[in-house]
Amino acid sequence: MSDELSPIERAKFAAARRAVDFVQDGMRVGLGTGSTAAWMVRCLGERVRQEGLRITGVPTSTRTGELARQVGLSVVTLEQAGWLDLTIDGADEFDVDLTLIKGGGGALLQEKIVATASDQMIVITDAMKEVAVLGAFPLPVEVIGFGWKATRTLIEELLTTMDVMGSDISLRMAGDIPFRTDEGNLILDLALGRIGNPRQLAPLLNQIPGVVENGLFIDICDKVVIGHADGAVETR
Ligand code: 5RP
Repeated sequence: MSDELSPIERAKFAAARRAVDFVQDGMRVGLGTGSTAAWMVRCLGERVRQEGLRITGVPTSTRTGELARQVGLSVVTLEQAGWLDLTIDGADEFDVDLTLIKGGGGALLQEKIVATASDQMIVITDAMKEVAVLGAFPLPVEVIGFGWKATRTLIEELLTTMDVMGSDISLRMAGDIPFRTDEGNLILDLALGRIGNPRQLAPLLNQIPGVVENGLFIDICDKVVIGHADGAVETR
């Protein structure tokens, strides 16, 4: 099947297929969101069908939940699961410390909650997403709708004091209307160019009233599985 895919999808598929080897019978597994995570959900469904693997999945978005059910996974909420053995998710960027930018698919809040409620988080990715310094990918920040323009102003003020290269902030749209997350919130995408000090920026963003969560995942990811277009996979 992977022969029919574009090189980038082949790389994502290779990473996803390898990562599901880490899933063991009886595990409670957090299911990420995005195109790479979707491959992982399909590969998990295949293991369930072929090997009779019994796992419980906790999706990080409505769309991942729908896909998981379609491929035959047993799906529960995080409240029902309580705690998870493992979460497997994609990322938009990662660096040498396994610090991530996530939220390109708009699911960063549930993804962060699920990942931090897991004993282990494995990120699956293609090699293009590795960066020396985070920030080429715009940093998603989830904000509540009430007073979002004031929240944006406060973020702009904060950015003037941070080690970043740019400071353009755009409201994420879905066609003509603002994009809404599964929690009904908005996303502001921060075009920072480079984030010199993610550890400083992340908590300060979250201190601003109106900010719900930001897309920097720090000390959350334990392992990265990197797929290549030729099917090779490396794990770090
Ligand atoms: C969704 C995410 C995704 O994991 C991230 O955007 C990567 O997506 P893809 O696998 O489609 O490249 O954070 O909120």
